[in-house]
Amino acid sequence: MPRIRPVLWKKSDSVRSFDAFCDGTLVLLDQTLLPTEVRYIECRTIESVWEGIKMLRVRGAPAIGIAAAFGVCVGLQTVFRNADGTRREPSEDEFFARLVEVVEYLATSRPTAVNLFWALDRMRAKGEALRGTVSVEEIAATLLDEALAIYDEDVVLCRKMGRYGASLVKDGGRYLTHCNAGGIATAEYGTALAVFYWANEEQGKEIRVYADETRPLLQGARLTAWELHENGIDVTLICDNMAATVMRQGKIDAVFVGADRIAANGDTANKIGTYSVALVAKAHGVPFYVVAPRSTFDLTLENGDGIPIEERDPNEIVRGFGRQTAPDGIDVYNPAFDVTPAELIAGIVTENGVISPVTRELVAKVVGQNKSAPGVPGVLGSAPDDLS
Ligand code: MRU
Repeated sequence: MPRIRPVLWKKSDSVRSFDAFCDGTLVLLDQTLLPTEVRYIECRTIESVWEGIKMLRVRGAPAIGIAAAFGVCVGLQTVFRNADGTRREPSEDEFFARLVEVVEYLATSRPTAVNLFWALDRMRAKGEALRGTVSVEEIAATLLDEALAIYDEDVVLCRKMGRYGASLVKDGGRYLTHCNAGGIATAEYGTALAVFYWANEEQGKEIRVYADETRPLLQGARLTAWELHENGIDVTLICDNMAATVMRQGKIDAVFVGADRIAANGDTANKIGTYSVALVAKAHGVPFYVVAPRSTFDLTLENGDGIPIEERDPNEIVRGFGRQTAPDGIDVYNPAFDVTPAELIAGIVTENGVISPVTRELVAKVVGQNKSAPGVPGVLGSAPDDLS
């Protein structure tokens, strides 16, 4: 089934990759308008890319990283342009000063999803590695190729995660998810939702997915319920405060969620409310799985205590979607993410296999590998080589 792609690079017809860099535009699916409107917006300035990430027009850890990689190209376009729009050639110093400026600026858009910093570091490192060896035009064209590579790799690795994760899903099974870790949070196929797509579409398993609505911005209701429904997956929407009840009623066989940053010990930051779901799952003996690519791991952090948690505008809670729902002047606390301790997580599905049990040693082993490696203790499934 064709997937909706939330991030695109609209190229000119030219085959020259420098023209594709100079004349291209970043196009984002504006996720704030879903589920009632499917509209794409063009980001022609670095400020519009920053705003698109900050305001959640593009959201979800992998998609933020991909958008930021293309955003670097958008930001660099200006050094090749005169005020009247004609082309100019910047000096190498000017080019690299702008590269640093653009990377540092985009890094201020959102703090929690490490994929943002991973993608920006990768773009900067790619450029720096070429400094002094080729023209700035060639470096710019190579940076666009790098952004496209980040995109293409995500397409492949999401399918790998879907295939690994599907081994944890049974025919007739019922699953809970929180927030949106679907195709529109990645290049096209998703992380947690990829597990459902693979199980249903590739393995023919009949499944039912319960989607938490995910207060306050309703990614579960607006995005996950919409996306699963569009893709023919049986989905039932519940309010966040119903998760305990559906588990107690025996309606949930396992929970699958995405992640924004995973520390070296497996502690996992994800959308606010994920931790509560994990606690409730533990209380009811329901396995709780995280699905995330290696680019979501931050091995510089010993544990989840060091993960920066974004705090967002109180109006998201008291004036959600334009309607006032709390008294004027009320104090509000609005953390956008929480951290689920590793001991509550039955397994972390990556493109290299499933980390289970979630231990520091196994995280290091699986995340440190460049290739899928069947046979690693604790890693389930075999490498889906046909997807590489
Ligand atoms: O604030 P958001 O919508 O960007 O939060 C997204 C999440 O928490 C997702 O679960 C996470 O990024 C995983 S996306 C595959």
